Amino acid sequence: MPANHTTTLNATANAPATKTGASQTIIELHRAGAASDVFAGSSTLLKTPAPPAFARQRTAIGLPEVAEVDVVRHFTRLSQESHGVDNGPYPLGSCTMKYNPKRNDELARLPGFIDAHPMQDADTLGGVWELYERLQAMICEVTGMDACCLAPAAGAHGELAGLLVIRAHFARLGNRRPIVLVPDSAHGTNPASAAMAGFDCRIVPSDLKGRVDLVALREMLTPEVAAFMLTNPSTLGLFEDQIVEIADAVHANGSLLYYDGANLNALMGIVRPGDMGFDVVHVNVHKTFSTPHGGGGPGAGPVAVKAALADYLPSPVAVRKNGVAQRDADQREAEPGQADASRPFAVGRMKSFHGHVGVLLRAYGYLRTMGAQGLREASENAVLNANYLQHQLAPMLPPVYDQFCKHETLLSGEKLNTSARQFAKRLIDYGIHPPTLVGAGCVYFPGDLKSAMLIEPTETETKASLDYQVGIFRKVFNEDATDEALVESAPLSRKIARIDLKT
Ligand SMILES: Cc1ncc(COP(=O)(O)O)c(C=O)c1O
Repeated sequence: MPANHTTTLNATANAPATKTGASQTIIELHRAGAASDVFAGSSTLLKTPAPPAFARQRTAIGLPEVAEVDVVRHFTRLSQESHGVDNGPYPLGSCTMKYNPKRNDELARLPGFIDAHPMQDADTLGGVWELYERLQAMICEVTGMDACCLAPAAGAHGELAGLLVIRAHFARLGNRRPIVLVPDSAHGTNPASAAMAGFDCRIVPSDLKGRVDLVALREMLTPEVAAFMLTNPSTLGLFEDQIVEIADAVHANGSLLYYDGANLNALMGIVRPGDMGFDVVHVNVHKTFSTPHGGGGPGAGPVAVKAALADYLPSPVAVRKNGVAQRDADQREAEPGQADASRPFAVGRMKSFHGHVGVLLRAYGYLRTMGAQGLREASENAVLNANYLQHQLAPMLPPVYDQFCKHETLLSGEKLNTSARQFAKRLIDYGIHPPTLVGAGCVYFPGDLKSAMLIEPTETETKASLDYQVGIFRKVFNEDATDEALVESAPLSRKIARIDLKT
């Protein structure tokens, strides 16, 4: 029986289930009058009508009435039905699902920050500007950039901000460049962001080693190209060792080099995008800097640029004047979407209020507690763990590109009787989240790699955990060899079985 099988069934045994096996929704838990149980022990209080001044004036708005205890049980049950990094390995390539230290959650709850009101006058938010000014500097230091705006709310949002900066730069020069290039291994958000920023997107092929095809890139670099977007290491887990040649070719064409920082976890403190020749960077704070990724919660995608592009950064940008951190004073009156008075070339605002302060606080706490050496060690261990898994799994799932990888590795399902997809579904029964499959998470593998999986163990998994995972992979590999039907019917231990993609 799979290791987690019993736990999973016990955890959900008492869940009220619908016909489909799914838990009831909070709406379905509604029982008229149930909410009045909340203050059990003070029923006399409840029977006393509230003084008119305090009585609710409006009529019910249709929220379900559920007793407090049932609300708690409902959400606890739901949390047990989904897989998270706090309850099992999550080697989802390109997502950096690492464990986030809880101390940073504590920091994000500091009363001075949590009690600040979004509508509060920016002048009264000294602590926020202090945090922003310091964090901007730290992100510039880690990425090798000169100026930074923390406001974008996610990686894709940072991409959009960065591309708008690039567009504004060429518009100011009167140099119309309508094309953005992305490699065929790019995350799906890259071409989507380019389109949203008004560019026409062209795809650069990979070569046989999984790197950017330099010959093709050179041919595609016409005077219409504004930028080339690249993540290094790529979403194949490979470091672009021709990065200097790529940067030179892009710059010789008058174009800019954009760094998708989603894979920064592989090289923190080792090499900086700015030193590799990148001009614009976004950082997925919710992958690299201690905010849980996934589940649709808030993230942050700060965008950082070289000095020549600083004028175009969106607002707000924190500055230090006479030793005091503050929002760039002249920007205060700028309305969302409006160009900034003091920085007439700024692309405006990307986010209501000032961005996701709680997420940025976690990033600050993470960077301060890790320190420069700690960051470097985190990346070194992320790379070591990925290579260890790649080596251990090779007899079953050979690497698509037979070389050392960086923080993640692309493994081939060519030896499987079923497929990488079926294999991944069976891992769920053993408490391991499926690795990334082609097309999933907007990741595309070049060529015709239908049966492959991208595995990213991250630095926070111990060697014991990696060995445990290898053991599970071996078990499923044997099942694949002896009982295809079993693997094809997985997952068997979850409340919701496989989603029928055919009907
Ligand atoms: C390589 C890459 N780029 C960009 C993104 C987009 O980031 P976000 O999901 O925060 O919008 C991701 C997300 O997983 C990614 O893996």
